[in-house]
Amino acid sequence: MASTSKIDVQSKLKDSSLFIADAFISGEWVSKDAKFDVYEASSASVLGQVANCSLEDFQTAIQDASQAGDKYFASTTAAVRGALLRKWYELIMTNQEDIATILSLENGKTMGEARGETAYAASFIAWFAEEATRSYGVTIPSSMPHTTLMTIREPVGVCGIITPWNFPAAMITRKVAPALAAGCSVVIKPPSETPFTCLALTKLAVEAGFPPGLIQVCPTKDRQAATELATNPLVKKISFTGSTGVGKMLAKLAAGTLKKVSLELGGNAPFIVFADADLDAAVEGAMFCKFRCSGQTCVCANRLYVQKSVAKEFTAKLVQKVSALQMGPGYEPSTTQGPLVNEAAVKKVREHIEDALAKGGKIEVGGKAPEQPGYFFAPTVISGATPDMIVSRDETFGPLAPVFEFDTEEEAIRLANDTEFGLAGYFFSRDYARIMRVAQRLQVGMVGANTGKISAAEAPFGGVKESGYGKEGSCYGLAEYTNVKSITIGGLDS
Ligand code: SIN
Repeated sequence: MASTSKIDVQSKLKDSSLFIADAFISGEWVSKDAKFDVYEASSASVLGQVANCSLEDFQTAIQDASQAGDKYFASTTAAVRGALLRKWYELIMTNQEDIATILSLENGKTMGEARGETAYAASFIAWFAEEATRSYGVTIPSSMPHTTLMTIREPVGVCGIITPWNFPAAMITRKVAPALAAGCSVVIKPPSETPFTCLALTKLAVEAGFPPGLIQVCPTKDRQAATELATNPLVKKISFTGSTGVGKMLAKLAAGTLKKVSLELGGNAPFIVFADADLDAAVEGAMFCKFRCSGQTCVCANRLYVQKSVAKEFTAKLVQKVSALQMGPGYEPSTTQGPLVNEAAVKKVREHIEDALAKGGKIEVGGKAPEQPGYFFAPTVISGATPDMIVSRDETFGPLAPVFEFDTEEEAIRLANDTEFGLAGYFFSRDYARIMRVAQRLQVGMVGANTGKISAAEAPFGGVKESGYGKEGSCYGLAEYTNVKSITIGGLDS
């Protein structure tokens, strides 16, 4: 595997064999002549090159996954599948530092966040190791005499898994773990910006003992090849996390063979601070859910609505915290804010700021990309934000916190819901009646009240409106990978 970067990734790992550049097809690591570059965002240099899979690779992987999946489900109990997942979880946690190192290098997030994401990713596997044994059917009193009616849950079959670069580990495991728990096989197209983490996780899955063919990984930059996942009749389910535009396109393609589809798409999360809130807690929440992963999460606070009487105080406290962030390469221990993923991401933040300034916004801190290599943008707070600004409609996906002011609860809810997206929403208040009222009125799939942290294996993850459909994690996640079959048994009178 060629690595032309200044960074020798293997020398940073305890187990250098975890840094893999091959595809994983039909139980074999497959090296390809065709490769694509993966970048290290803080220096914009090439970190390594990865196999660029073709249409034929996807077809082979899908065919093989179909056979392997049937065999796996027929030959394993739920307890066996749970034990395999538990072993995979343990191997990931044993190798947490190496996985975090690879993840931080290819994604840019800080080592602290990368360690956290690795544990978060592993927690989905531990969760679904247990959920595997809880895939219940029901018995139903039949209206027909001498008849019993029951349901069982069966795996849907081959699942096409398409994931984004912002969570190179957790978005893989949040989909793959329930699929394997249910008895499905998976063909993964990892993000082309961050394929190495997925390949390392796959190596550990093989070590855990998952049979050949069950997990296939096809990195590619060829959109046509990846489209095979959405059109091949052998694929029975598509699970996608990414932009609303791509999600809609995949849903249309998948409709051709009526595949099941789960879509976790874009957000435009409101973050409301009422005058009765604990302002320090609200600032803490905003720091987490705005600046985690340098503002590149779907559940990021995108619009901060602060009640007029506390707007100045909140903004001052926020600016103080934001000023203390240390920008730098994610792998440096002192860094608390890493680079963005690429130049296009930097450009988008700049455009949102320019638009806000042209419409009367004021930079309180940040506002610029520093003059240095890499895809950095200074964490920024803008005051005087207004609904006509691009940032009120479009997810910045970067470290920009625009502060809007509002007068009444009614106005805050109207502004918060004035978007086609509905993934997450946050608010801070110490009034219990208001907490219930606002939580119910926000048109989102996930609410954080007095907290910016809403993500956990046990918490249902997913949105409403144009943020997609389907729930991940939680007691609902496994069902997304199963079909309910009813069995009616008649003739029970003799
Ligand atoms: C995402 O941004 O899509 C995932 C965020 C999370 O799991 O917390």
